Amino acid sequence: MGTAFTCSTHLYAHQFLQLLMLLLLLPLRNVSDMHVKAQLSSSFYETSCPTVATVVEDVVRQAVEAEARMAASLLRLHFHDCFVHGCDGSVLLDDTATVIGEKTAPPNNNSIRGLEVVDEIKSAVEAVCYGTVSCADILALAAKASVVQVGGPSWMVLLGRRDATSPATIAEVSAALPSPFSDMPTIISSFAALGLNVEDTVALSGGHTIGQARCVTFKPRLYNFSGTGAPDPTIDPDFLASLQGTCPEDGDANTLQSLDVTTPDTFDIGYYNNLQINKGLLLSDQELISDGNTTSLAALYASNESAFFLAFAQSMVNMGNISPLTGSDGEIRLNCHVINSA
Ligand code: HEM
Ligand SMILES: *[C@@H]1O[C@H](CO)[C@@H](O)[C@H](O)[C@H]1NC(C)=O
Ligand SMILES: *[C@@H]1O[C@H](CO)[C@@H](O)[C@H](O)[C@H]1NC(C)=O
Ligand SMILES: *[C@@H]1O[C@H](CO)[C@@H](O)[C@H](O)[C@H]1NC(C)=O
Ligand SMILES: *[C@@H]1O[C@H](CO)[C@@H](O)[C@H](O)[C@H]1NC(C)=O
Repeated sequence: MGTAFTCSTHLYAHQFLQLLMLLLLLPLRNVSDMHVKAQLSSSFYETSCPTVATVVEDVVRQAVEAEARMAASLLRLHFHDCFVHGCDGSVLLDDTATVIGEKTAPPNNNSIRGLEVVDEIKSAVEAVCYGTVSCADILALAAKASVVQVGGPSWMVLLGRRDATSPATIAEVSAALPSPFSDMPTIISSFAALGLNVEDTVALSGGHTIGQARCVTFKPRLYNFSGTGAPDPTIDPDFLASLQGTCPEDGDANTLQSLDVTTPDTFDIGYYNNLQINKGLLLSDQELISDGNTTSLAALYASNESAFFLAFAQSMVNMGNISPLTGSDGEIRLNCHVINSA
């Protein structure tokens, strides 16, 4: 009797502790776990291609030394790959006569860059580990190597993605990729649709601390904001004048402007500091400081580089976890431009 009592008390205590731990751990679990089919792993190529990360880093270093903007272009490729149909290398597939796919969909056409560097990386990787490393994993490794190369944080890249055998359609690309003209609730919901939360949204927007954007992506803010016939009243007046000089109303839509106007080639908190003084370039950037869900995180990252770097690294892992093909799904493409059976 006494023993049974002690035993069941012990059991209760044990179960109670388990429940308590579960409750404590639940909020820490990232929602993007729900989208993971099988677990990616940082040691995936440990025996099959132990030098893959070094090979990628070497090519990225040379490319970024030759042109600083390449770091930005490679980071964005991984983002565009992951947001459309998951991180499956589909953004790299060339259009065929029958399929007009991701590469030429409006957000990518005349916009994504770095494809020739990805080809260089793929050749270098194939030379040491033939038919082993996916194009999707190359994009994930190149994104991290790029961020590190321009002064940003490092993180453990999870690997084991396989490549898609078909591109996404234009409609799927436009539906999945956030628009620079969207307000913050719309941006937040496009991240949420992929299992990424508000913190991921604010941290990953910090990718705009490097790289360039074409006039066409922010021109309405300069001349006819939301159909008002006037500029966006929130833009800093000096910054507005400078942007109007770079992008005249009837000027070239493809003229480039730095996303981070102060330190465009360095991965730092310049982007968030510019937002604080109304010098954000895209509407989707500037709204981070005025939306109630994002104001305080944007202010935190503007004041604390370690907080931003930690959050960005974690959110890159979360983004890299979006719907990967694993196991025997998909394939290891030999040429990132075409599926193997083509
Ligand atoms: C929050 C939603 C986002 C919107 C609306 C957005 C929109 C844009 C736009 C319009 C451009 C310029 C494209 C052009 O001129 O053709 C751009 C560039 C860029 N984006 Fe984003 N983006 C977003 C999120 C992200 C994320 C999550 C990352 C990566 C973590 C990222 C990284 C970049 C980089 C690095 C560039 C510059 C690329 C280069 O210079 O080649 N963006 N983005
Ligand atoms: C992509 O851009 C080129 C011109 O640069 C244009 O001819 C082509 O129609 C565009 N493709 C799509 C699918 O919009
Ligand atoms: C501004 O845009 C609105 C709707 O988009 C349009 O009706 C209006 O004519 C434009 N105004 C100017 C001054 O271009
Ligand atoms: C956060 O976003 C949700 C959904 O758009 C909205 O209902 C809520 O009011 C926002 N909270 C704040 C503090 O702005
Ligand atoms: C900055 O953020 C880091 C990481 O979250 C934290 O450890 C540190 O205490 C913060 N520093 C300040 C001054 O708040």
